[in-house]
Amino acid sequence: MADPTPDERLQKEFNQWAQAGEGEKMERHHLDITEKTIRHMQLRPGERVLDLGCGSGWATRLLARLVSDGPEGFWQVVGLDVSDEMFRQARGASKDFENILYVWGSAEKIPWEENFFDKVLSVESFYYYPDQDRALMELFRVMAPRGRMFILINLYKDNEYSLQWVPKLKVPVHVRSKDEYIELLKKHAFEKVEAVQIPDDTPTPENYKTTSFHSLDDLKAFKRVGALLLMASKPDLRTPAPGYTVY
Ligand SMILES: C[S@@+](CC[C@H](N)C(=O)[O-])C[C@H]1O[C@@H](n2cnc3c(N)ncnc32)[C@H](O)[C@@H]1O
Repeated sequence: MADPTPDERLQKEFNQWAQAGEGEKMERHHLDITEKTIRHMQLRPGERVLDLGCGSGWATRLLARLVSDGPEGFWQVVGLDVSDEMFRQARGASKDFENILYVWGSAEKIPWEENFFDKVLSVESFYYYPDQDRALMELFRVMAPRGRMFILINLYKDNEYSLQWVPKLKVPVHVRSKDEYIELLKKHAFEKVEAVQIPDDTPTPENYKTTSFHSLDDLKAFKRVGALLLMASKPDLRTPAPGYTVY
C-alpha cells in the first residue's frame, strides 16, 4: 500500500481528535483569542468569509452570525477542513444556519473559485500545513482583491512556552518566529502585513490538570504571552482563473 500523503496523515490524526470530542473542546481553549481576533476583522453583513481549518465549526458559526442579513443570502461563510470527521460534526451542529457551507478539503488545494473571499479566518491550523507556501498561494488565489486574512497561531518561537507541546504532537508542525511569518507573507505579495500578540485572559483554575505544559505556571505564562495574530491583505488585483490567457 502506498504511504499516506501529508494531507491523509492530517486527516487521520484530526479524525481521531474529532472522535475523542476534541473538536468541541477546542472552543473553550480558543474562544477568548478568537473573539479578540474577530474584533480585528471588522466584519460587515454580506461579506464572504472563509474559516480555514474550521474544526467542529464553532467559530464558523460566530462568523455566520456577524455577516448574516447581507445581500448575498446563502453561503457567505465557508468552513474548510481536511478532517472529514470534523467536517461531519461541523455540518451536524450548523443545521440552523442557512449561510454556512462546509467543505471537506485541504488548505493546499482550496476547492473554491478565484477572487471570492472578503475575509479569511484561520484559528490554530496554519502551522500544521505541510506546505505553507502552497497554502498561501491558494489563499491569495481565493481572496477577493483587497480581501484581508487573519491567521491565529498559538505555536511560535516567540512564545517559548508553546514549544513544550511540539514533542507531544503526532504530526509534524512548523515552528517559526513572528518575524519569519511576516517575511513569509510578504514573499507571497500580501500587503499591509501586521502581527500582534493576543493574550488569553481566561482564568486558569488552580486545580486544572495540564498535560501539554510542564506546570500550571507555564500554562499561565503561555496564555499571558498569547497567540500570534497575523493580518495581511491581498493587493487590489484579480487573480486570473486557470487557463486564462490574454492575447
Ligand atoms: C487545532 S485544530 C483547530 C480547529 C478550529 N479552528 C478550532 O479552533 O477549534 C486544527 C484544525 O486544522 C485542520 N487542518 C489541519 N491541516 C489542514 C489542512 N492542510 N487543510 C485544512 N485543514 C487542516 C484540522 O483537521 C483541525 O480541524
